[in-house]
Amino acid sequence: MRDKFIIVENGDVKLRELTDSDLVKLSEYANNEKVSVNLRDAFPKPYTLKDAENFKKMIDLQSPKTFFAIEFQGEYVGNISLSVRDDVYRKSAEIGYFVGEPFWNKGIATKAVSLITDWGFKSLDIIRIHTGVFEFNKSSQRVLEKCGYIKEAVFKKSVCKNNKIYDEIRYAKIKE
Ligand SMILES: CC(C)(COP(=O)(O)OP(=O)(O)OC[C@H]1O[C@@H](n2cnc3c(N)ncnc32)[C@H](O)[C@@H]1OP(=O)(O)O)[C@@H](O)C(=O)NCCC(=O)NCCS
Repeated sequence: MRDKFIIVENGDVKLRELTDSDLVKLSEYANNEKVSVNLRDAFPKPYTLKDAENFKKMIDLQSPKTFFAIEFQGEYVGNISLSVRDDVYRKSAEIGYFVGEPFWNKGIATKAVSLITDWGFKSLDIIRIHTGVFEFNKSSQRVLEKCGYIKEAVFKKSVCKNNKIYDEIRYAKIKE
């Protein structure tokens, strides 16, 4: 098998292409209510191996590639992506990420978000990276703040998740 293609790294955290050997772990870590509750309903629930395979097929077709695996100490632990927008928003990208629960609170997402943000501003024709975080997701808000993302707005009662209504906190970082 050829080497896993590494995009960027910082110590024990690497962003690299997703490989077939990650898919069992992807389906295991993604099939967790504590993960999916923080994500849009398009994220499959339950999350099966077939969902992981379909996800890989989708990202294998991407050019340029902007969806990556997060590796920690040599082990697959989660995913991170930039989705470049179109039309008048074409200089913006939305960031998305998750880390498997066994690896939470080790600083992994903070390193991964910093890495993909710097990479995105260097490698893609974008000047803004943004995302929306559900109001109860304090961990992700903290990650974005640690990475220099600015809280720009609260979209009041904009999210309906599990039949409950929540605010969404919008964060963005502008290319320096
Ligand atoms: C959000 C997520 C990516 C964070 O990953 P992680 O690797 O644990 O993040 P880090 O360890 O880099 O940082 C977490 C920070 O949040 C803090 N935190 C964790 N739980 C918290 C809580 N309930 N309240 C306040 N802060 C909290 C941690 O203490 C840490 O901050 P610190 O370094 O100042 O102590 C991970 O929990 C996850 O995948 N969640 C599900 C999917 C998701 O939310 N994706 C993002 C959608 S916007």
